[in-house]
Amino acid sequence: MTLERQKVALIGDGAVGSSYAYAMMHQGLAEEFVIVDVIKKRTEGDALDLEDAQVFTSPKHIYSGDYSDCADADLAIITAGAPQKPGETRLDLVNKNLKIMQSIIKPLVGSGFKGVLVVAANPVDILTYAAQKFSGFPKNRVFGSGTSLDSARLRVALGKKLDLNPQSVDAYILGEHGDSEFAAYSAARIGGQPFLDVAKKAGLSSDDLATIEDQTRHKAYEIINRKGATFYGVATCLMRISRAVLRDENTILPVGAPLDGEYGLTDIYIGTPAVINANGIAKVIEVPLNDDEKAKMTASAETLQKTTANGMA
Ligand code: NAD
Ligand code: LAC
Repeated sequence: MTLERQKVALIGDGAVGSSYAYAMMHQGLAEEFVIVDVIKKRTEGDALDLEDAQVFTSPKHIYSGDYSDCADADLAIITAGAPQKPGETRLDLVNKNLKIMQSIIKPLVGSGFKGVLVVAANPVDILTYAAQKFSGFPKNRVFGSGTSLDSARLRVALGKKLDLNPQSVDAYILGEHGDSEFAAYSAARIGGQPFLDVAKKAGLSSDDLATIEDQTRHKAYEIINRKGATFYGVATCLMRISRAVLRDENTILPVGAPLDGEYGLTDIYIGTPAVINANGIAKVIEVPLNDDEKAKMTASAETLQKTTANGMA
């Protein structure tokens, strides 16, 4: 019997990265876990702190490293980058974080890394697009956290309204992980029933649904205004994505996926469900949309493509 050891490389050990590392400790995933950051003392401290958790979780070789340690990683997660300050949008971070992405991808590719690359730093759709372009890796091997967190937020909000476990709410936020995202309500399902029928029976008006969509879109701002950053939600999304990759699950998750004609779009990474396995994106799922939602998807893509063109010019 051969026992395969799996390895994850985390690049960026700030609030999001360290929360992700902590979430991964609790999952019994990836026997080896290397943390890379420009602040070496932070990765050393986190590795020392996190290794104590293995006594109560599962054995893991967790350590502070550099890009040469990424060579044989099955999965790399990039959470390095400036976060928004109160009042800033994700798109405002584009120039700063594109430079950081460039400085990461070069040594990562140089290491010989051949695994799946997942980007979470913002603006995530643009940085994922840039990571694929800078690396030259096949598109399926690079994807972003996209609207995974936003979809989770929508499911939480709808679960509260309908008095349901959010896991029983099958609904997606699509588009940019940012201010132009939208809820694909027409395709949402609750226990096999169209969500819009269930919502009507529960007395939710279209204004109520618009308010929930808007609150979902603005939830990050609410959190940042109170505690300066968001990290537990996204860290858990990244853990879930990691499990789908490391266990070769073929699970459908909302992520930031490369489109090739879906929604009438190409040459873009944007939030949509996709089948995730050990090769990264196995298949992009095009959610059937009504005309209003189609227009929102097109507008969201235009926003991303315009900002990408300016940022990468
Ligand atoms: P943070 O400031 O706490 O951490 C960022 C880390 O990146 C720091 O440790 C810093 O030293 C490191 N870093 C900076 N430049 C680097 C480089 N060139 N190489 C390696 N490491 C480098 O920020 P945070 O709160 O952890 O947020 C990180 C990013 O994640 C931000 O861009 C934020 O907007 C984004 N984010 C995304 C989501 C999502 O849903 N995708 C959710 C929350 C935050
Ligand atoms: C979020 C980050 C800020 O929590 O992108 O949505």
